[in-house]
Amino acid sequence: MKILIDADDAATGLKKVIVEHLKDKGIQVEDLDYLGRTPGAAYPEVAYNLAKKVQAGKLDRAILICGTGLGMAMMANKVEGVFAGVCHDVYSAERLRASNNAQVLTMGARVVGEEVAKTIVDAWLKAEFQGGRSAPKVESMRKLEKESFNK
Ligand code: RB5
Repeated sequence: MKILIDADDAATGLKKVIVEHLKDKGIQVEDLDYLGRTPGAAYPEVAYNLAKKVQAGKLDRAILICGTGLGMAMMANKVEGVFAGVCHDVYSAERLRASNNAQVLTMGARVVGEEVAKTIVDAWLKAEFQGGRSAPKVESMRKLEKESFNK
C-alpha cells in the first residue's frame, strides 16, 4: 500500500508526525510537499495537486491536512472521481472507507491532537469498502457526480 500525503502551512507539523507514523508501520508514504515546491500556495492548490494524482488513478488512498480539514475536503471533492471526507473521530474514519469508499481522508491540525490523529489514520487504514447495501449508494454518488460535472 502506498499513501500520498500533503498539508498546507497550518498543518506541516502534523503532516510530519503522520508521515513518521506511517513509516513506522512499514507503509510506503509519499509527501508531495506542494507548499515546499510552490511557496505561497494555500489549501486549494495543495488539495488540487494531490486530488489530480488520485484522479489519474495512481492510487486510492491519500491524506490531506489543513487547519480544519474543511478546505482540503471541499477542494478535493471538486476533482471529478475523487471523494474526500473530514474525520476527527475513529468511527467516521472507519465509515469514510467502509460505507463511502472515499479515497481521501482529511483532518484539521487545529482540531485534533497528534495522538488522536494517529488513531484516526489507523482506523481509516484498517477499513475496506464493505460493498453490500453501500454499493448502490456509492454508485449513485458517482452517477450524480457525472451529471453535475458534465452538464
Ligand atoms: C488556514 O489557511 C486555514 O484556513 C486552512 O488551513 C484550512 O483550515 C482551511 O479549510
